[in-house]
Amino acid sequence: MTDQTHDADAEEDLADLFENAPCGYVSAEPGGRITKVNQTLAVWLGWRQEELVGRRFQDLLNIAGKIYFETHFAPLLRMQGFFNEVALDLVAREGTRFPVLVNAVERRDEDGHVRFLRITVFNASDRRRYERELLDARRAAEQATAELRELNQTLEARVAEAVEQRMQAEEALRQAQKMEAIGQLTGGVAHDFNNLLTVIMGGLETISRQANELPQGSATGRIQRSAAMAAHAADRAATLTARLLAFSRRQPLDPKPIDPGRLVTGLADMLQRTLGETVALQTVIGAGLWRTLADPAELENALVNLAVNARDAMPDGGRLTIETSNAYLDDAYVASIAEPVAAGQYVLIAVSDTGSGMDADTLAQVFEPFFTTKEVGKGTGLGLSQVYGFVRQSGGHVRIYSEVGEGTTVKIYLPRLAGAATAAEFEVRAPTVADVRGDETVLVVEDHEDLRAYSVSVLAEAGYRVLEANSGPEALALLERGSRVDLLFTDVVLPDGMDGRRLANEAARRNPRLKVLYTTGYTRNAIVHNGRLDPGVQLITKPFTSAELTAKVRQVLDD
Ligand SMILES: Nc1ncnc2c1ncn2[C@@H]1O[C@H](COP(=O)(O)OP(=O)(O)OP(=O)(O)O)[C@@H](O)[C@H]1O
Ligand SMILES: [Mg+2]
Repeated sequence: MTDQTHDADAEEDLADLFENAPCGYVSAEPGGRITKVNQTLAVWLGWRQEELVGRRFQDLLNIAGKIYFETHFAPLLRMQGFFNEVALDLVAREGTRFPVLVNAVERRDEDGHVRFLRITVFNASDRRRYERELLDARRAAEQATAELRELNQTLEARVAEAVEQRMQAEEALRQAQKMEAIGQLTGGVAHDFNNLLTVIMGGLETISRQANELPQGSATGRIQRSAAMAAHAADRAATLTARLLAFSRRQPLDPKPIDPGRLVTGLADMLQRTLGETVALQTVIGAGLWRTLADPAELENALVNLAVNARDAMPDGGRLTIETSNAYLDDAYVASIAEPVAAGQYVLIAVSDTGSGMDADTLAQVFEPFFTTKEVGKGTGLGLSQVYGFVRQSGGHVRIYSEVGEGTTVKIYLPRLAGAATAAEFEVRAPTVADVRGDETVLVVEDHEDLRAYSVSVLAEAGYRVLEANSGPEALALLERGSRVDLLFTDVVLPDGMDGRRLANEAARRNPRLKVLYTTGYTRNAIVHNGRLDPGVQLITKPFTSAELTAKVRQVLDD
């Protein structure tokens, strides 16, 4: 190998290195005009090398780059003689962007004049991509953090909301349990009280009857008046206990198919009289109304209670509207209320007034017996209790909407009567009061001694042969001994594990022609399905007068 070939090889190596270096090389005049460019850069940009020679380097930049170059980098280069790693975008032949990092340095002669510029260009596509990816990653991370923060915040709100809902549900449950407990208490008290009242009323009747037979004078007059006064008070007490029983859902109901529209229309005159002249009554009867099965007397009672409440809430007059329509309680609605109510079809009777309305505290307590905001003597606080008890006992639902100063709407939902039950099935037989005496044998079964004695004496006085027993087993023993009995008159609730219905069943097996009359302060499941009278069962409710008892006994015997 000669020196010359050695030199030539070295030169070629150098040229190769220059042309194919992993970066672009540009030599340019001090003004930027390109005098030499390597192949690497020419390939990147899609030009041939000789096409680039003669152009200015800054002309290869995009517009923003050109401006930056003139305003920043060219002055920088003139001031300090170089710049490094400036990120710029070149424009390739196709017009596409080609990101680069540019170093530039001035080469000067001995006099300090700039001879030429050496520009080195690095491909920054990858680096830009990393940067972009990095930026994207950072943005994503920031967004995730933000979402997390928001989630935390809404989580707090959601937890608070769930707790609130839970508390509301518990409150509703407490309210329902309270109503249930009060119901049982009042029911129990009213039941016992009824027994006592029966005895009291019976005693008073006897007193006034006996006084009638005495020679009349001022003393007998006083006795008569006192007895009448006491009987009047006992009557009022009986009404009170009836309302208590209504609340406790233990009053015997006598349900019949009802056309609610007709019932309301029929009641309108009476209600208008109750309301007085300053309150206008309006009835709106929906078309194609369904029927319901309920005790019409109790329903009327409920509507009167509502009308009286409305009147009291409108001392300066106003308007009372009673609307009837078909309604549907859906699953979502029944799930939202505390008491168990079946979803389905109902008949709605809505009673609205334009009165004072109620605040939330009052509203929470209105159904409780004896809750009243009226002055002593004005209200007993039993009106809405009756409404509530009656509606619940009838399988319905009652809801009150009220706004202070605006008025109140009470909505009564009674279950739609399905199928065509004939009215006759529920027809009550009118008592034949004409002749209430008889000579048949009646077995009186009652554990309450005073009450039993009262019934026995009333029936004996009316001519009947009377046997008595204080429990089911005792009554059966009497029947076993072969005593002839035409009518079994029994309390529904009896001690010694045999209630009135079981006693009646046992007795009927021994004597299929035996007639049965039940008595009760309230109705129990033994005799009543779902708090309603079994069709066909004969029942007299305590307290009863001697006239009522003898009339009923006669009627059952004559059936
Ligand atoms: N329509 C109404 N507008 C405003 N408040 C009412 C209305 N209905 C009931 N209330 C309020 O509810 C309370 C309880 O009513 P509820 O009918 O049970 O008893 P009362 O009317 O006070 O007494 P009672 O009906 O036994 O004579 C009332 O005292 C009253 O404060
Ligand atoms: Mg009332």
